Amino acid sequence: MGFKRAKALLRCSRQSLDSILGVSMNELGKKAAGAKAAELIEDGMIVGLGTGSTAAYFIEALINRVRRGLHIRAVASSRASAELARKGGIQVVDINEVPRIDLTVDGADEIDPAKRMIKGGGGAHTREKILAYASREFIVIVDESKCVPQLGRAKLPVEILFFGSPSTRHHLEKLGYHGQWRMQSDGTFFLTENGNLLFDIQFPHPVEHPEAEHLKIIQVPGVVDTGFFFGIASRVIVGNSQGNCI
Ligand code: 5RP
Repeated sequence: MGFKRAKALLRCSRQSLDSILGVSMNELGKKAAGAKAAELIEDGMIVGLGTGSTAAYFIEALINRVRRGLHIRAVASSRASAELARKGGIQVVDINEVPRIDLTVDGADEIDPAKRMIKGGGGAHTREKILAYASREFIVIVDESKCVPQLGRAKLPVEILFFGSPSTRHHLEKLGYHGQWRMQSDGTFFLTENGNLLFDIQFPHPVEHPEAEHLKIIQVPGVVDTGFFFGIASRVIVGNSQGNCI
């Protein structure tokens, strides 16, 4: 059997298994990674909560530990994560009211072998980056599908102030960055946790030098931050389709 045919068969059987189980294999990986990260939380810690479906698995696993007696406080990167945590009985506090964050756990849209990432699929990357930098340790949890040899297949979310946003977009396009405003299903603009717009850049090919691209984009007035994260993840937990962590 040729390599291409074997790959296609593998894809097919994976899809049918997904539909039989009613749960995607990627979800198993996300859940395993979330559960593993929750084991690392210690009594008394101030924990940073990321945003997204993988971060939600982490928060759910953390809720289970809190119900069994773990005492922690949490700082959230989004309203969704704060709400999930609060509902589960986790004490959520304001980032400005804590001296430090011990450990933040968050997902990613793409991560390369140098632990460089694209984040912001959930539109919370600016707050996520602030949490990551405020933390003693930043752990990234992903399923296998997020691990890529080179960044750039995923769209790069760029948070942009509404004020002057057509001009900001024009300047980005002049620099060669093309994409779309992120919209909601009702046709209105998607707003970030900070009430700003998101311009999702689609790169035509994998990005050779993400750091250089970040610097070019961030210098345009009106840009708040890009979804590139560099040199900040201390550890990456990858959950696989068997529900184990690598
Ligand atoms: C949100 C993020 C998320 O961590 C990223 O989009 C991954 O999400 P998911 O775990 O749902 O795949 O950066 O802004």
